[in-house]
Amino acid sequence: MSTCKHSKMAIGRPTAVFVLFSSLCYITAFAVILRTTNKDVWANEFEPIELTCLIESISTNNPRIEWKKIKNGVPSYVYFQSKISGDLEHRAVLREPANLLIQNASRSDSALYRCEVAAIDDQKPFDEILISLAVRVKPVAPRCSVPESVTVGSTAELRCAESQAFPPAHYQWYRNSEELPEDPKTSTRFYNSSYIMNTETGSLKFRIVKKEDAGEYYCQARNEAGSTKCTPQLMEVYDLDIMGIFFKVLAGVTALVFVTVGLCRIQKQGYCSCKDHGESDYKVPQHSNGMEYVSADEGHFRHKSSFVI
Ligand SMILES: *[C@@H]1O[C@H](CO)[C@@H](O)[C@H](O)[C@H]1NC(C)=O
Ligand SMILES: *[C@@H]1O[C@H](CO)[C@@H](O)[C@H](O)[C@H]1NC(C)=O
Repeated sequence: MSTCKHSKMAIGRPTAVFVLFSSLCYITAFAVILRTTNKDVWANEFEPIELTCLIESISTNNPRIEWKKIKNGVPSYVYFQSKISGDLEHRAVLREPANLLIQNASRSDSALYRCEVAAIDDQKPFDEILISLAVRVKPVAPRCSVPESVTVGSTAELRCAESQAFPPAHYQWYRNSEELPEDPKTSTRFYNSSYIMNTETGSLKFRIVKKEDAGEYYCQARNEAGSTKCTPQLMEVYDLDIMGIFFKVLAGVTALVFVTVGLCRIQKQGYCSCKDHGESDYKVPQHSNGMEYVSADEGHFRHKSSFVI
């Protein structure tokens, strides 16, 4: 309407100016023009969000309003024939003049939305506006893996991962409830620690584990929508390779057992006398290891049998 006043004031000026103003007035009065306050909307999941479709100019009282959702290039109706339809049904309403109010945003609402307004009687009878909606999703509790025990001087990697968050979460590690700086060299407290932290992948890698690296570790996943953490897990640091020693001892004991068993078998065949001879003699007739006992001479038999073992 203000342009119309301007065009009236232009009377008396050169004709070209008059024509320009009067044509502007004509277009604004008989054209559908839409505007939005935000074409790139971010919302938090489970919170309300309004997509604005403001009608700047229209001459019809009853324009036809439609909203479409375009996901992966496929359009579907959101508001059609004065009704909310599709998966936004019962979750959204249309607000004057043509705004779409989503009362409880869901992660599946992330898409492009197109507001279309048609006024058949207008000179320019149609306009549309495209709005992108991204719904932030809070991270769920991350899965953390912390080695229970590591040896001084070895390497160790702690991992933290979460898959629901949008935009993807960043990870922060804590030891005994104290936040680890991304770069240990920036802190006097963690200066001697050899870790490399990757806040995007959630990895915390110690190149050379030190005694001071022991403690209760947990990780926090965070994005713009919120943060969550995993339960603390203890990482113990040993001076010696306890497991290595255990296996060496186990191997030693096993070898000893084999040697002892072997010796005793030889003893049973009669070369030794640690077991009583009665038992050893009693077993002779039952022997069934395929040895032929050609001679009745016991001494001879024993000799052949032990030779095989
Ligand atoms: C939003 O939707 C979620 C899941 O559908 C539901 O748990 C929650 O209570 C709703 N919130 C509101 C404010 O309606
Ligand atoms: C780091 O190591 C140096 C040399 O071993 C030692 O003097 C210093 O106190 C250590 N700093 C911390 C914070 O442990």
